[in-house]
Formats: sequence, C-alpha cells, structure tokens
Amino acid sequence: MAEIKNTTGRTARTIAMKGGGYYSQRTRGAKDVIDNASGMLVEAAGAIDPPDPGRPIVLADFGAADGGTSENAIRRCIEQIRARFPDNQIQVSYTDLPSNDFSALFKNLLGVGPQAANTYLTDIEDVFVSACGIGFHRQLLPDVSLDIGFSATAMHYISEKPCPIENHVHMVGASGETLAAYAEQARQNWNDLLLARANELRPGGRLVMLNFGIDEEGRYLGNTGGINMFDTFADIWRQMRDAGVISETEFVNTSFPQYYRTVEEFCAPFTDNDSPVYQAGLRLVSAKTGVVGCPYRRAFDEAGSAMSAREFAESYVPTLRSWSEAVFLSGLDETRPMEERHQIVDTFYQRYKDRVASDPSGHAMDYVHCYLAVKKTADQP
Ligand SMILES: C[S@@+](CC[C@H](N)C(=O)[O-])C[C@H]1O[C@@H](n2cnc3c(N)ncnc32)[C@H](O)[C@@H]1O
Repeated sequence: MAEIKNTTGRTARTIAMKGGGYYSQRTRGAKDVIDNASGMLVEAAGAIDPPDPGRPIVLADFGAADGGTSENAIRRCIEQIRARFPDNQIQVSYTDLPSNDFSALFKNLLGVGPQAANTYLTDIEDVFVSACGIGFHRQLLPDVSLDIGFSATAMHYISEKPCPIENHVHMVGASGETLAAYAEQARQNWNDLLLARANELRPGGRLVMLNFGIDEEGRYLGNTGGINMFDTFADIWRQMRDAGVISETEFVNTSFPQYYRTVEEFCAPFTDNDSPVYQAGLRLVSAKTGVVGCPYRRAFDEAGSAMSAREFAESYVPTLRSWSEAVFLSGLDETRPMEERHQIVDTFYQRYKDRVASDPSGHAMDYVHCYLAVKKTADQP
C-alpha cells in the first residue's frame, strides 16, 4: 500500500479555517450545501445493516471544522437511525486537522457557541460525541467500526503541495507539469483516504461525501460564469507583488494545498475492478454534480436598491476570508512580524472588497460539488 502521509506543519497551517466560531458564522453557503444534501445521510441511515445488539452505531464527520455547518444534517441522520434501531446508542466522531479549533466545535455541539441553540446533543438521549485531530488521509477509527462516514467540502485538501505554482495561487490556474504533479498528488490522496475508510467501515456501511470538484461544464467554486474568484485572488496578490508590498518569493510561496477533481477522477477507483479501493470492498452507489448558489449574492440580488454594492462587498468577502486567509498569511515571510503579516492580509481583503464595491457584477462564490454515495459491500470482495 502507498505510504500515507500526515498533513502536518506548514501545510496544516495553510489549511486552517478561521477559528472562534467565525467559520460557521460566515460560511452559510457550506451549510446550505450540507442541508440540501442531508437526504443522502438519511438514505444512508436507512440502508446500513442492522448493528449487533448492544453495539453503538458509529458516525464520523471527516474535516468537520467547527461542526456548525453539519449539525442539522447529522441530527436528521441520527433521527433516522433512532427510528430504525431505537435501542442502540449512537457515537459521532468529529475529525479535522490538529490546527482546527476544536473548542469552537464542542461549544457549537453544546449550543453555547456564538449562536446559542438546541442541538442534537442537547435534545437526543444516548448520543455521544468525540473528536480526532488527525488528518483523514490515514485510518482514524479501528477496523470495521464505522457505520456512516460523512465529509463535506474538505477532501479537496491534499496532504502536501507537490510544487510551487509559478503565476497563480491555485491549481485551477496551473498547467503542464505543475498541473500534472497536483493531479498525481490528489490521485494518491484519494486512494489513500478511500482505503482508510474501507478499513474503518463495517460491511454494509456507507460513505456520503460532498466534495468540491470540477463539473461536466468546467465549473468550480467561484467560477460559474461570472468573475473567476481564484483569478481575482491571484490578480490582487500579483498587484501587491508588483507594488512591492510582498516579494516575488512570497507570491510564489502562496498557493492553496487543494485539488479540484473531475467526476472521472472521483469515480476512477470504483470503476476499475482491480483497484485496491474496489478490492477493499467499496462500491459506488451514486455520483452527481450540483451547484449551490452563493447566498450573499442571492441576498444582494433580492435586496435590489435596499443594499449598496459596498454593503454586498462587506457581507460577501468575509466568506472568502474564512477559508482562504491562512493561505495568504502562510505565504508571507516568517521574518516579518506577525502584526505586519496580518496588516498585509487585511489590505489584500480590503482590495478585494473595494473591487467588488466598485463593480459588483459577476462576483459570487457559487459552490460546485460532486456528491458521492459509497457502500462497503457485505459480500467478500
Ligand atoms: C471548508 S472546511 C469544511 C468544513 C465543513 N465540513 C463544512 O462543510 O462546512 C474544510 C475543512 O477540512 C479540514 N481539512 C483539510 N484537510 C484535512 C485533512 N487532511 N484531514 C482532516 N481535515 C482536513 C480543514 O481543516 C477544514 O476544517
């Protein structure tokens, strides 16, 4: 089996979501994606094999961030499980990188986070939660212990960047050997993380994965026909380089450790009967792509003259910042005082806001996902 690398050190710092509950508060679109697809989790709960009497039913959310965005969907899944198996206890395991703000996760689950609320943990008896701060490219749960694995908007993160991206900040702007190196890294990571899930799952268990990707029309996050968000990131960062605010080295060091797979790339391990993933018993139940519109853009369009372009920019750019800030911070030279690095990044997002405010047309972060349902065959593979 291929060596499985942990996502540690600099790469992990690059990935961190903004903490303190900021992530869930500013990422309504990610919650919309999960809520819209919560039927897939209910379906999975309706399809798993019955557990042994007295054994808990185990769910896991891989790459959960602060848990706020998936709380409602997991509640629906738990309710379905409880309806089918009223006597079994339920365990929910949240996983993310060590750099994740797990404190915000537990506060959200207890309903004492930024938005006080009832949650499945406060409302439903015999449900237990735990967390694991280790990356999902390796096995995180014991063999044959997991009933339903869930992941949303997380598995596009690769364990390490294979090379710099010379004139852009994301693989969507790469080509040639650079793009090929990212594709190979992502292929290995996808195989490794699926094999890890195959070991964890019980026969009859399910995976529901909502992954950022490139759809059949070439669309991806923030690129659905209007202004390309990643090109805008690269353009503003380039302008700051050209103006001497950041150095050439800092520009080149700034890139997202991400890869947006195509549907073919997602499905490849399942369509090849000889692949280790297929041999480990994983079978594709369904694969489809879908676009969930940017909620900030929708609110602006619906508001008409009641919302100014500046107000739109002020509401929209923080959602980009919630997941991208760490990338721009980590590209900056570590000899710069931290305060200076934060000022540079503040300037960067201010310029993005100014650009949107001066002409809001075409700005939107629509979510493009590949929705995958997978089962572990109960037959001997
Ligand atoms: C955009 S957030 C999505 C969070 C949440 N699942 C949602 O849909 O709102 C991506 C999350 O994946 C996590 N992540 C990235 N790479 C990871 C890895 N190798 N293992 C576990 N989590 C990872 C990040 O730390 C982050 O919390």
